[in-house]
Amino acid sequence: MAEDTLTVTDNRTGREYTLPITDGTIHATDLRQVSAEEGDGGLMSYDPAYLNTASCRSAITFIDGDRGILRYRGYPIEQLAEDATFLETAYLLLEGELPTATQLQAFEDEVRYHTYVHVNVQKFLEGFRYDAHPMGMLLGAVGALSTFYPDAKEIGDAENRHLQRVRLVAKMPTIAAFAFRHSRGLPYVLPRNDLDYIGNFVNMTFEIGGRHEPNPVLQRSLEILLILHADHEQNCSTSAVRSVGSSQVDPFSAVSAGIAALYGPLHGGANEAVLRMLDEIGDTKNIPAFIEQVKAGHGRLMGFGHRVYKSYDPRAKLIKRVADDVFEQTGLNPKLEIALELERIALEDEYFVSRKLYPNVDFYSGLIYQAMGYPTDYFTVLFALGRLPGWISQWEEHLSDPEQKISRPRQIYTGEGERPYVPRARRG
Ligand code: ACO
Repeated sequence: MAEDTLTVTDNRTGREYTLPITDGTIHATDLRQVSAEEGDGGLMSYDPAYLNTASCRSAITFIDGDRGILRYRGYPIEQLAEDATFLETAYLLLEGELPTATQLQAFEDEVRYHTYVHVNVQKFLEGFRYDAHPMGMLLGAVGALSTFYPDAKEIGDAENRHLQRVRLVAKMPTIAAFAFRHSRGLPYVLPRNDLDYIGNFVNMTFEIGGRHEPNPVLQRSLEILLILHADHEQNCSTSAVRSVGSSQVDPFSAVSAGIAALYGPLHGGANEAVLRMLDEIGDTKNIPAFIEQVKAGHGRLMGFGHRVYKSYDPRAKLIKRVADDVFEQTGLNPKLEIALELERIALEDEYFVSRKLYPNVDFYSGLIYQAMGYPTDYFTVLFALGRLPGWISQWEEHLSDPEQKISRPRQIYTGEGERPYVPRARRG
């Protein structure tokens, strides 16, 4: 059998190098030995936006982008979406195995115990303007939790890390619900520990005057959406959590970096951007003109395209089924017709077909969230609640990986060479 090595010739020097191949990769640091002259530091690999660079080993999530496969810890996303609860999925991501009934009960109890936030967190949230974007509130408040739990700095202690991870899973829905109430000028509703995780969150968002009639179909649909978002290997926000966490900062600060990354319209903010786009299109008759605009390079078809999925996003397929269940309860979202027609036209258009652009998870999620009663600027908060177990599982994995160090990429310097400082009075 052929050896697992790569032999390269440096044509600058004529020297030949043999580099080991492990797990289908070469180590970028092995390139350092490829040197043209003394002191040049050796060869680097250049990969802006990490198009072809593995930054870690991970046993959490498997994606095959060409075949549209997504698995958490080996379990197909379709099966988890069908049968698992969100906390069961979170446990699976965090611990590596599905919980037994006793383990799940213990985890649920632990989370329930930590759902309250310090009253000063409420005061802190009250300080935001009435029209503050809820993602800005979430990222500020989750970052601020690090000041309430200074023990979270003890990241070398496994038991302590576990406690902070439970605190995050328990408190993020409370903060997210408070942000929702804040934007509507409604009093905050405290956690109810007689309800399950999703039921409690929905109650904290929608309860009025002590009353809320839960709709089990909508609650299960929300739970499925959160499961579909729970992890997605080394995406932008997860890489942010890993990278910031690699400085050994506390997990609240690392997760707030993840929330910041998710906020952007090319990542989690896409679900909000899709709804704004559908509003802008307004009518199916305007779709052809909109598509032409996109093809001419004016804006993007939001909710389309993915760095990894090049055939279809399996989550988008599952979401369409959830949409049917939700719209049966709430009536059709009038924008659905525009979305379906947009998808139909785009999937037949050579521009989108040749670039392998398909609907991603966010193309339909916003329509569902809107039908459930969440405002457009809140959609990404729901994504953040879903993604949290992934962030903290990946954070834990990163810290426990002996191959990892503080994240610190290299650069190709393109600026000026050395030049003397010019006193202010003598500048042009
Ligand atoms: N609409 C129109 N054209 C697009 C789109 C789109 N949504 N996405 C990619 N393209 C085009 C690009 O212009 C480029 O064309 P070119 O080769 O002629 O220059 C080509 O397709 C490749 O696009 P890249 O930007 O190189 O792809 P990349 O992998 O960097 O981007 C991304 C992936 C960010 C998801 C992109 O497809 C996009 O911006 N989509 C819209 C935003 C969105 O829906 N984001 C959510 C992603 S899923 C998630 O985070 C949950």
